Amino acid sequence: MASAVQLRVGGGVGVVVIDYPPVNALGADVRAGLLEALARCREDDSVLCVVLRGARGSFVAGADIREFGQPPKPPSAIEVFAAIENMNKPVVAVIEGVALGGGLELALVCHYRLAVAGARLGLPEIKLGLLPGAGGTQRLPRLVGFSVAAPMILGGEPISASEARDIGLIDALGEGDLIEQAMALANSLRSTDGRPPSIRDLVQHVEGARRDLATLDAALAALVKRGRNRRAAEAAAKAIRAAATEPFEEGLKRERALFLDLLNSPESKAQRYLFFAERTAGKVPPKAASVGPVDVQRAAIIGAGTMGGGIAMCFAAAGIPVTVIDRDDASVARGLGVVEANYRKTVERGGLSRAEMLARLALIRGATSWDDLGSADVIIEAVFEELPLKKEIFGRIDKVAKPGAVLATNTSTLDVDAIAAATARPESVVGMHFFSPAHIMRLLEIIDAKKTGPMALRTALMLGKKLGKTSVVVGVCDGFVGNRMALGRGAQTERLMQEGVLPRDIDRVSLAFGFAMGPCATGDLAGLDISWRIRKAKGRVAPIADWICEQGRFGQKTGKGYYRYEPGSRTPIPDPEVESFIRSRAKSLGHDPGAVGDEEIFDRLMLPMINEGARILEERVARCASDIDVIWANGYGWPVWRGGPMYYADQVGLRIVRDKLARYTAKLGDERLKPAALIETLVGSGRSFADLPPNDR
Ligand code: 3HC
Ligand code: NAI
Repeated sequence: MASAVQLRVGGGVGVVVIDYPPVNALGADVRAGLLEALARCREDDSVLCVVLRGARGSFVAGADIREFGQPPKPPSAIEVFAAIENMNKPVVAVIEGVALGGGLELALVCHYRLAVAGARLGLPEIKLGLLPGAGGTQRLPRLVGFSVAAPMILGGEPISASEARDIGLIDALGEGDLIEQAMALANSLRSTDGRPPSIRDLVQHVEGARRDLATLDAALAALVKRGRNRRAAEAAAKAIRAAATEPFEEGLKRERALFLDLLNSPESKAQRYLFFAERTAGKVPPKAASVGPVDVQRAAIIGAGTMGGGIAMCFAAAGIPVTVIDRDDASVARGLGVVEANYRKTVERGGLSRAEMLARLALIRGATSWDDLGSADVIIEAVFEELPLKKEIFGRIDKVAKPGAVLATNTSTLDVDAIAAATARPESVVGMHFFSPAHIMRLLEIIDAKKTGPMALRTALMLGKKLGKTSVVVGVCDGFVGNRMALGRGAQTERLMQEGVLPRDIDRVSLAFGFAMGPCATGDLAGLDISWRIRKAKGRVAPIADWICEQGRFGQKTGKGYYRYEPGSRTPIPDPEVESFIRSRAKSLGHDPGAVGDEEIFDRLMLPMINEGARILEERVARCASDIDVIWANGYGWPVWRGGPMYYADQVGLRIVRDKLARYTAKLGDERLKPAALIETLVGSGRSFADLPPNDR
């Protein structure tokens, strides 16, 4: 038998263990091994019941994603699953760790399911631009009902074991001797005809859905609307609908056809690329490989503002006690008030239980004194974005922090080397650039400054993982990776407006590409005064953006920015005041408003980002192109189904990118648009960004 699956027979039970590192994915060896183990159990009269479980404390993380795009290797998952479902003896899935995607589908063909506390179960295929392709869309609705199954399939979020028990996805929570419990379960629930029950035979939910297809359609339409990859969402909805309208076997066929179509789609390829890109980004760099991270038991944050409060919520969610320090009692109270209000809103929406809210609040302590700093394993500074202030704060931290503590700054633009130099232990200083709202945004740029030591870097990476973030290690430069590239786009946004292009046109073109929000609406959301202050400090001028701020239009918080907003609404409404200013200014500069077409708007927003990304690679500020893509997909609303800016450039072709950049450089006389040397080199040698090996930063 293939070593990916082991079978132990004894005491009337055949225990089948899937052992396929790292995550027991359903690779070809596992599928073959399962068929063989099942055949042996079937023939062995001493086996009365089969238990299926995963090695290393976890069930199965799904199909083997590395096999996608390769020629299919027999046996197929469908064949193996049919063998389990049709088994003449009960098969019980014992779920520890995760049962995701094909892993949960495997559990659904078993006759009973047991999951231990801490297990997570779900169908995350949609996040890869796919749908469950091994029966998940047909069996899950039959088991738990359409209204519960549809959001699980279209949202892709896993649920806990207790939630799974509450919705009837599992038969019992497992504890103690799981094999014994599995056997007892199989015996107690044995059907009267002695044949193990199959989900495929359940009719109640199908009949219910058939009686009221309009409700199902409305629910599916609402879920599709929320989907990031529309094509995958629509396909998933069709498959779920087929579970209601077609016989089981027909539904399976329909699901399979839809799955195969998605598998070959450019959208899913891009999302699968991002999946592996995120894993690559999270790897410990060679520099930090030989040290162990600091075990973070306690944290402290200096600055209880927007970011400090959000970061504190991240620690509380991870169960790590955190002290949030600010200048005076009023600032602390205001900061903690915002945190509490955020939690209350989440509780009201049903996203958190009241008990969990109280438990998290109990982990967050406000203070004005720095006494707690001495016991913190990590200290994150999140005060105003002013270098002299940050240096002063780090000088003070240096005096009180314990030896070995990691000292992090959340600066978004300042020189981390200069901040580190304010301490006598620059090796302990690292940048941890969270994004706003910090408790929601997944991206974490970890800034590996010149003197950052291996321990600080390793701890920041480990902490990122503990806090549920997608971390990317980058070097020091103005704006790091994400903001620096956004700045390139921002310069063209401003320039386009000077030529008479309206904010709504810029945003429309961005939305059409797939961004959730355009750059002007995003600026309004973030607050335009922040970049205005930075521009003034750096002596930069942006006539349109400056004029908007001079009018007191700081974005949503003042009810107007590039757009205007009705009280209590976040919907941007084009504002004639802004539009007539832009038009008349453009005319006064000799431009014809309306002369710039959508294609040029698009190029001028996109190309500077790609060019800046190439410079970032040249300067080794980022390790590889896929790290940049991870940053844009997780922190800047880049449409995941387009992979990221560098991936997109490779799809377009770097020669085309280079030629267009050269054309716009000549047309606009803007040197920043001159094709980066790296792009020229890659075009010269017929390579793409993806061909570049990771550099050694
Ligand atoms: N196939 C192949 N490799 C996988 C994999 C999968 N399904 N899931 C994870 N891996 C690999 C990762 O690439 C990584 O490899 P590396 O060490 O070489 O970089 C390794 O497993 C560990 O992964 P993580 O770093 O993500 O480990 P974590 O412990 O943080 O997370 C996990 C583990 C929760 C299982 C997470 O990896 C995950 O969410 N995996 C994807 C689950 C998924 O999307 N399943 C659906 C697959 S599609 C499917 O099943 C189609 C079916 O319906 C037909
Ligand atoms: P904020 O203005 O909301 O909060 C700053 C807090 O620091 C205030 O509560 C202030 O009272 C406190 N503070 C100032 N001096 C202090 C001192 N000497 N001791 C203790 N506390 C002091 O600012 P915000 O937005 O939270 O930004 C903080 C940092 O995070 C900045 O460096 C900013 O660049 C960075 N950042 C901000 C993002 C955003 O979108 N707001 C995103 C990513 C990073």
